[in-house]
Parts: sequence; structure tokens; C-alpha cells
Amino acid sequence: MTKQINRQWRLQRRPVGVAKESDFEWHEDGVPAPGPGQILVRNQYLSVDPISRAWMWQEETYLPPQPLGSVMRGVTLGIVEKSNHPKFAVGATVIGEFGWQDYAITDGASDFLMPLPSSAENSPTLHLGLLGHVGMTAYFGLLDIGKPKAGETLVVSSAAGAVGSLVGQIGKLYGCRVIGIAGSDAKCSWIKDHLGFDAAINYKVESVFKRLRQYCPRGIDVYFDNVGGTTLEDVLNLLNQHARIVVCGMVSLYNDVGGTLMFPAGPNNLLNLMTKRAKMEGFVCLDYRDRAAEAMETLTAWHDAGKIHYRLTVVEGLRNAPLALGKAFDGSSTGKLVVKMS
Ligand SMILES: NC(=O)c1ccc[n+]([C@@H]2O[C@H](COP(=O)([O-])OP(=O)(O)OC[C@H]3O[C@@H](n4cnc5c(N)ncnc54)[C@H](OP(=O)(O)O)[C@@H]3O)[C@@H](O)[C@H]2O)c1
Repeated sequence: MTKQINRQWRLQRRPVGVAKESDFEWHEDGVPAPGPGQILVRNQYLSVDPISRAWMWQEETYLPPQPLGSVMRGVTLGIVEKSNHPKFAVGATVIGEFGWQDYAITDGASDFLMPLPSSAENSPTLHLGLLGHVGMTAYFGLLDIGKPKAGETLVVSSAAGAVGSLVGQIGKLYGCRVIGIAGSDAKCSWIKDHLGFDAAINYKVESVFKRLRQYCPRGIDVYFDNVGGTTLEDVLNLLNQHARIVVCGMVSLYNDVGGTLMFPAGPNNLLNLMTKRAKMEGFVCLDYRDRAAEAMETLTAWHDAGKIHYRLTVVEGLRNAPLALGKAFDGSSTGKLVVKMS
């Protein structure tokens, strides 16, 4: 009988700039056996998230730094292959932080192990995108922190990305005027013509400030920030009284920090927060785990009614996971980025 192999990507060194394949080590091991109370999961899909790059910093983010030599952290969706756990039967579909590897052992103590409904077998990627942490991020970030109201103007950056494309659509469902900022004409057409955004700005070729002034004649009430940097600065100059800025992420910074938290100089117009009585608030989707069912129920209903759409970019093979992470930063992915592992 052929011996089963567990293929893994381990973090070998802290990258400088965009992570390269040589920053990781390819490792092959035997498949471990589950102990008492544990299950063996065979990973099928890996979620590729830009924040992975920040986990590689030597400083702590909202999670401890990824230790060198360890299997790269990442959310995966897989099948239970062996079980010594009363709640997880063999064949069940589960999701959790099982890492860049074929197989993982877990008892659910520290990796957010969650069972998925049996319907997940037919649409596994839905649970890494719309009905997973991405959907929760868009839903709670926009509704709990952004608090959009009908008639208000909502701006979202990385608007053709996994989170941003959902945020804009939810904003439309709440009656907002929605302006998206994205990095290509094709992405701008997609969010405008297919997702119903009111206007789109290609930040790579247009002046974001000029276009925002044109498309937001009554100012900006809610900004859902996925990128930070100069876009945040442009938005700060156009805020309305009592505007809300949702700090979801700052993808434009993740590669620039260089191993120590030496952030480049930030926006110098934060005074606008005072003059406009505005709020800027960060959040992490994990804070909303207790309310996950609420988001899933609503997002499922919107999706089933054809009111919300999402797109996937699929990279084939665990071997290509480092390359896939690069796609989160070079603009070549649209919607949710995943690796199909086997
Ligand atoms: N707070 C939370 O709990 C939470 C949870 C999930 C995600 N997030 C954050 O939310 C943001 C979006 O996440 P996501 O998973 O949906 O990823 P995403 O938006 O799909 O990320 C990939 C896209 O980011 C854009 N991008 C890359 N580098 C950029 C740069 N330097 N400047 C501007 N845009 C750039 C690219 O699109 P373009 O072609 O448009 O440049 C790329 O296709 C990220 O900041 C992420 O870290 C936060």
C-alpha cells in the first residue's frame, strides 16, 4: 500500500516585500493519526487572505506572529477522514484554521473548528467566501460599525475584492449611494455593471480625490477602508458631519512594514475627524463569532434571492499557495481567492 503523505508549506523566513516562494519551505511528512478526542481533516480548499502577510511580521497583530519553521497559518475547508470526537463524524465537512497542508489533526481547542451543513458538500467555496469569515467581515463591519442609512454615500476600497464586493452590495440593499475603488477597468465594470455600484474609480489611472469629489457631491458618510494609505487620506478630506470610517484592513501596508512595525507616515489630515465629529473604528471579524448565525442567515437569504453575488479566483494545487498569496497583492484576483488543494 502507498504511504499517505502530508504535504506542507512552512514559513522559513520573514519576507521582505511581497512574500516569495523561497520564504517558505516545502515539507513532506507522514499523515498523523488522531488521538483521543481528535479528528483528522483532509483539507480541500485553502482561503488565501492578504492578512497572512501581516502574520509573517515578527510583531504581533491580532494573532501572535507566525513562528518560523511552523506550518503556514490559514483557514481551510476539509473533510473529516478519521474521528475520535463525538461531535464530528467521518465524512463531515468542517472549516477551521488548519493551515497550508493536506492533513491536520485537531480537537478544536485553538483553531476555530466548526462543522458545516451537509449542503456545504455541493458548494464548499461558498463557506470560505460569502458564508464564511469574509461574509461576516462585510456584514458586521458595515452594519455594526458603518451603520449605513438610506440615502447616505458609502465609499469602499478594494471594491472588487472578497470583502469589498460584498460591502458595496450590502450598502445598495440598505439604500446607499455606493462608490467603489478598484485597480482595473475590468474590476470597475464588474462592480458597476454586475453588482450595481453607482460609480467606480480605477485608482491606478485616475485621481481618487478628483473622482470622489465628482461622484460624492454631497460628501462621504461611510468609508469602508480595506487599503489605508493615500486613499484614506483622500476620503478624510471629503467626510460629512458624523461620518463613520470602518477600519477593516490596510492591504496597501502589509508588504511595506519589513518585519518590524515601522509603518510609513500616516494621513496628516486626521484633524478632519474632529471638525466633522466623525468616528474611525477598527474591528476583527472573530469578535463577532457569537453572532455568526445572524450574518449567515441574512447573507444566505440575500444570495438565494439573487440579491447578492460573489466571485471566486481559484488557484490549483497546494504547491501554488505562495503564488496565490502574491495574487492578493498584484491585482490579478477578483472576489474571493482560494487554493483548490487536491
Ligand atoms: N478586520 C477583519 O476581521 C478582516 C477580515 C477579513 C479581511 N480583512 C481585511 O479586509 C481587506 C480586504 O480583504 P479581502 O480578503 O477581501 O481581500 P481582497 O480585497 O480580495 O484583497 C486583494 C485585493 O486587494 C487589492 N490590493 C492589493 N494591494 C493593494 C494596494 N497596495 N493598494 C490598493 N489595493 C490593493 C487588489 O485589488 P485591486 O486590483 O483593486 O488593487 C487585490 O486584488 C484586507 O485589508 C484584509 O486584510 C479584515
